[in-house]
Amino acid sequence: MQVISSITELQPFTGGAFVPTMGALHAGHRLLIREASASGLPVLVSVFVNPAQFAPHEDLDSYPRTLEQDLAAASEDGAAAVFVPSAETIYPDGQSVWSPPLPAVATEPRLEDAYRPHFFGGVCGVVARLFDLTRPAVSFFGEKDWQQLKVIEAMVSAHSERWGELRIVGVSTVREPDGLALSSRNVHLLDKDRHRALAIQRALRAADGLSQAAAESAMTQILLDSDLVVDYAVVRNADTLGQPCDDLPKRALIAATLDGVRLIDNAPVG
Ligand code: PAJ
Repeated sequence: MQVISSITELQPFTGGAFVPTMGALHAGHRLLIREASASGLPVLVSVFVNPAQFAPHEDLDSYPRTLEQDLAAASEDGAAAVFVPSAETIYPDGQSVWSPPLPAVATEPRLEDAYRPHFFGGVCGVVARLFDLTRPAVSFFGEKDWQQLKVIEAMVSAHSERWGELRIVGVSTVREPDGLALSSRNVHLLDKDRHRALAIQRALRAADGLSQAAAESAMTQILLDSDLVVDYAVVRNADTLGQPCDDLPKRALIAATLDGVRLIDNAPVG
């Protein structure tokens, strides 16, 4: 497996299967890499902690960085190369990096867009830059970050002239045996409080089969009972993230904070 840091070395890996990450790879990222390997195309993984998607008060400095283990994991899961660019390579001095206009699903739902207003601008900018550099045929994103997945799908379909036939594939969420969605940020949860994080999974399960209003109030109550600070606990149209209607797929989405660690999760609901 090759480790690449410059743009020129990327050339042999264009046209393949691409998995963008911020490193600290866990079993969730690794499922993306294995699904990419199963496509039969050469797999390129990127590891870049993107400063542009963190607000000044957020956890850029404490974001876990484990490059040696990441390289070993990517190699084991079948990556042909890992791209580890410097900030200078992604955002070259004096050269403006093209940033796409944000799609409605990045600005209208009042979910992550409301609580992290800088976030999708940063994500779309870096992912667009990475797509421009790596020109993949297919790219893999986790359902764990549902709104991000929908934003990337919308960005790519609005710019088919730029990235050709690029296909975005969503990969299901990998969880701990007790149901907690894997996240690089879980390492910051205190042992004594970890069980309280399971309220998120309980809330998502409770939402299934209820009306929107009943689901939202049941989820909120379950999260509050475990003393989580709730940003949102809602049921939305699974694709637009606007208000749901009965004959289209629906998704329950939660963002809540525990021990200062912001956790997000989601699940399909009927
Ligand atoms: P990061 O948080 O490192 O996640 C990289 C990819 O792994 C994303 O597509 C995310 O949805 C997926 N992922 C994370 N946890 C997962 C889990 N438990 N199960 C399945 N997939 C999971 O998301 C980002 O990085 C960044 O925003 C990025 C897209 C790389 C742009 O900087």
